[in-house]
Amino acid sequence: MKKKNGHRLYDNYIITSFDVAYALSKALDLVNPLINNHHQRVAFIAGSIAKEAGKSTKEIENIIIASLLHDIGVVVEKEFHELADPDDNYENEFCHVIVGSYLLDGLNIFPNISQLVKYHHSPYSAKTNPLSDTDEIPELAYIIHLADRIDILINRDKPALEQKSKILDKISKSATNKFHPDHYQAFLRLADKEHFWFDIEEQDKYQLVKFNFSLSHLNMTLDDVLETAKLLSRIIDFRCVFTSTHSAGVAAVAYKIAELMGLSADECKSAMISGYLHDIGKLAISSEILYKDGKLTDDEIQIMKKHPYYTYTILNSFQIFETIKDWASFHHEHLDGTGYPFHLSEEKLCLGSRILAIADIFTALSEERPYRQPKSKSSLIDFFNNEAKNNKLDSRVISTLNAHFDEINSARSKMQQEAATDFNNFQKNIFDNKICIQNKNFISVLNTK
Ligand SMILES: [Fe+2]
Ligand SMILES: [Fe+2]
Ligand SMILES: [Fe+2]
Repeated sequence: MKKKNGHRLYDNYIITSFDVAYALSKALDLVNPLINNHHQRVAFIAGSIAKEAGKSTKEIENIIIASLLHDIGVVVEKEFHELADPDDNYENEFCHVIVGSYLLDGLNIFPNISQLVKYHHSPYSAKTNPLSDTDEIPELAYIIHLADRIDILINRDKPALEQKSKILDKISKSATNKFHPDHYQAFLRLADKEHFWFDIEEQDKYQLVKFNFSLSHLNMTLDDVLETAKLLSRIIDFRCVFTSTHSAGVAAVAYKIAELMGLSADECKSAMISGYLHDIGKLAISSEILYKDGKLTDDEIQIMKKHPYYTYTILNSFQIFETIKDWASFHHEHLDGTGYPFHLSEEKLCLGSRILAIADIFTALSEERPYRQPKSKSSLIDFFNNEAKNNKLDSRVISTLNAHFDEINSARSKMQQEAATDFNNFQKNIFDNKICIQNKNFISVLNTK
């Protein structure tokens, strides 16, 4: 471990995939209050069914992690409402599974779950696979499907146990064609035990899931964390064309400024990780607000301004992000205490946080948005000099920015071009899929204007 300038960075991190998935699920579960705690409840139900059905420890772990993230591909709010319909009146369920499985594919910390997410709405009896001619539907995906439907059927306003017979009735009606018989039988055995229903309602699932099922640990270096953060940033950015490269740009600018200011190699990497993750709290904000075409109302602005708070709560779950969480979460704070949401003043804002605040604004103002063109070099320099003069942003960081403007800007532009290629591949993958093309709302959010 290295301790320098009051913050700690580690050479080696011990982490569980479960912890990362659990922290992300907390954000996902904030989006739709209609089905609060949905991901965590599905993880518990699916894990319990898998255990009861005699699945191996590794299989149970995969099921829990996939369940914690299963609806991560929901891009438009209408989908959430459809997915929360107890009568299964959903038309477009396949879009979110395709997006979700694409975003999770290739993430080393979550191996083997992309296919489970892809098939978590597939009925057991289907003779053909509408999503692929070559994939075989993994059996474990049917467990998530069953757990998902059980949770959707539970009305949040009444005790779950009181609703047991109604739920059993409804599930049994579709059991033969929708669910795997072994999983259905395992559910029936669990349903007899009162504690199963009480556990579903338990607000904090962390202990319940983590200690009821055995989970493996991963050893990660700072480079592994960096790679993971880069892939996670796609989940944050790829929900909309206008922000599709934002986190990558902030990561590149933060890294470059840190390097130019003489920070250590590990600190530079941490600045980059913070750039990738600074807006991770946006996962908790509905995309209708995030990407609204037009002016936000005052209430919507208040919701929007909560995202750095969520970034903090997500990253705060991990010892590995002890330093990074401050750098990433304080990017809307000002030195004079007028920023948000913590109103921290200069003595509480370390250099890393100051760099991230500037990297975020620099990147945002260099990007094209629906309502404005990118700012020119001279107007950016004027803007930042003014912010330094008014004691909003750090003057040393701004001096570095002014002195190396072109170098920093070209690092940003190069990284954003790379991210744009990734985003184009993502769009192509989604738009080549005829199932997604039918969903007009979905296409309008992801399409290039
Ligand atoms: Fe789903
Ligand atoms: Fe779901
Ligand atoms: Fe932000």
